[in-house]
Amino acid sequence: MDRQTNINRTASPAENRDCILQVHGLKTYFHTEEGIVRSVDDVSFSVGRGKTLGIVGESGCGKSVTSLSVMGLVKCPPGHIEGGEILLDGEDLLKKNDEEMRLIRGKRIAMIFQEPMTSLNPVFTVGQQITEALRIHEKISKQEAKERAIDMLRMVKIPLPEQRFREYPHQLSGGMRQRVMIAMALCCKPDLLICDEPTTALDVTIQAQILNLINELKETLGTSVIMITHDLGVIAEVADDVMVMYAGKVVEQASCDDIFDKPLHPYTSGLMKCIPRLDDDVEELSVIKGTVPAFDQMPKGCAFCPRCPYAAPLCEQEMPPLAEYEGRLVRCFRYTDRWEDKTDGK
Ligand SMILES: Nc1ncnc2c1ncn2[C@@H]1O[C@H](COP(=O)(O)OP(=O)(O)OP(=O)(O)O)[C@@H](O)[C@H]1O
Ligand SMILES: [Mg+2]
Repeated sequence: MDRQTNINRTASPAENRDCILQVHGLKTYFHTEEGIVRSVDDVSFSVGRGKTLGIVGESGCGKSVTSLSVMGLVKCPPGHIEGGEILLDGEDLLKKNDEEMRLIRGKRIAMIFQEPMTSLNPVFTVGQQITEALRIHEKISKQEAKERAIDMLRMVKIPLPEQRFREYPHQLSGGMRQRVMIAMALCCKPDLLICDEPTTALDVTIQAQILNLINELKETLGTSVIMITHDLGVIAEVADDVMVMYAGKVVEQASCDDIFDKPLHPYTSGLMKCIPRLDDDVEELSVIKGTVPAFDQMPKGCAFCPRCPYAAPLCEQEMPPLAEYEGRLVRCFRYTDRWEDKTDGK
């Protein structure tokens, strides 16, 4: 019994103090004509102050819907948060109205997306957009906003910030636009920065520069970060803690060191084998066979079972609980007593 603990246990006061964000039992479902899509299904996690939580999983696992739920940006209908708590510094964001959430977004939680042009407006200059973001949340003069915006551009290492301030987004390269997005997101010094695949569209060298920049700014400003990616290589660069998602559920949670030292869930090991390394022959790179099941074809038991090299009959029958094992959490029967009870243990 000591090996299985309920992750939704009440956090201790010390945990509350150390965490900027605590999410308990979040359920975000989409009600579509084809049926209910359980995009985020009973997901719990926390983000430590000044720490980076990496959320990793293949396409469609529920990473973006998790972050949109935290931001209060799930479109309803068809989306609906069916249950759970999202505590920002102890305050439940699910109890806030639209106006209160608008004030929280940008000021206390900011988000950057994969494609900067989804957030940058092509008809306004870079300077107009950063000063606008600043003046929505802070009562400062135009001149002060301009100075702060140029400081932010300098901070994100944009060369010639005074000149860039007057330029339009299309005049910048993809990497520079992503830096502008980061400047905009951080200009009001939010407590939490959510980055949803911020480097996927960039080439590898620019990707490394942006990740370094996020790491540096996190240190300088003390911001906590949620880094969403399908790439464990990105996680290795930035994360303190990791949550692995599969088909709307958490399958493994641990510190970044533990995950890389010893992945427990077969899905995490599979993702690990997908990281290209300099000494790998690309042809030999393993991939996890098959795809994430569609919402209307979820297996009865473990959602990963059809792709799992270790699946046993028990895995086809029951969804494993998220169980504590060696101080970490893993949703796999191999790490619970049930495996030994109901299988031959192979
Ligand atoms: N508006 C919507 N209506 C119906 N289903 C939706 C909607 N938005 C998301 N979903 C479903 O929710 C699931 C999770 O989507 P989500 O965008 O969170 O995936 P993701 O992990 O971010 O994937 P990616 O790596 O491709 O960005 C998917 O099955 C998706 O089809
Ligand atoms: Mg996504």
